[in-house]
Amino acid sequence: MRNLIDIMELSVEELQELIDRAMDIIANPEKYAHVCAGKKLATLFFEPSTRTRLSFEAAMYELGGHVLGFSEAQSSSASKGESVSDTVRVVGCYADIIAMRHPKEGAPLVASRKAGIPVINAGDGGHNHPTQTLADLLTIYREKGRLTDMTIGVCGDLKFGRTVHSLVSAMSRYPGVRFVMISPEELKIPKYILTDVLDPKGIEYEEVTSLEGAMPKLDILYMTRVQRERFFNEADYVRLKDSYILTPDKLKTAKNDLCILHPLPRVNEISVAVDDDPRACYFKQALNGKYMRMALILKLLEVDV
Ligand code: NCD
Repeated sequence: MRNLIDIMELSVEELQELIDRAMDIIANPEKYAHVCAGKKLATLFFEPSTRTRLSFEAAMYELGGHVLGFSEAQSSSASKGESVSDTVRVVGCYADIIAMRHPKEGAPLVASRKAGIPVINAGDGGHNHPTQTLADLLTIYREKGRLTDMTIGVCGDLKFGRTVHSLVSAMSRYPGVRFVMISPEELKIPKYILTDVLDPKGIEYEEVTSLEGAMPKLDILYMTRVQRERFFNEADYVRLKDSYILTPDKLKTAKNDLCILHPLPRVNEISVAVDDDPRACYFKQALNGKYMRMALILKLLEVDV
């Protein structure tokens, strides 16, 4: 039985298999409309979510399956003090697969050891968010036609931004990929990503503070929100929250085929005036998330189509 806790659990071949499956779902949705009939997905969200939870639910419905779950810790027995282990042992009796988001790093891993059914990490604290990366990969693949040979700028809260940690790890496996990490000093990418993921493979990266300086060389610009809920004090958040605001003016020096991504929700980091730029791909990215979650559910449930 497979889980998805960390994106690195999927090989490059498996990532391609998921992308190919998602492309087939896009082309032939009717073929998939009933393949999960009688199966149940449990969405256990101990932390707020719009896209991730709803796209998991939409994914399961579009596969003909059912959905149960909760969208906040307050409405589950966690509010009475129940442990994650106990909650998932019980949910394992009711459902076939779990998507779990939790504010504590490692909670979905613990859950996967107890649930008895596949567990998908839908975001654990400031750590990982592998299914957002699946959405990101499909978007890059559809927009660029490849996952190799590109310069990726990740910008904003690289310290707490779990989507960035998973994306950089995943993309580090494709040849010819370089990174520009754009952040304030206080929100630099965790050292372990550099020392454990990028350095051993000799991958090129630079850490800079200026978005304008990096712009002309980027093929992908991945903007992120400053993660207010992970800050220890509000004053630091207020000081850093508007470090980067992407405007049409800042895009003047960008490549014509730049692909602008953002996992969403956006706060201030991308001006709404950018939304009409053909290079803005963040709403397409949200749609792609549903297709990749459909592909992932089929893989983990070992459904033959
Ligand atoms: C992201 C998350 O939850 O980490 N959102 C999402 O799943 N699309 C990004 C964020 O909250 O900033």
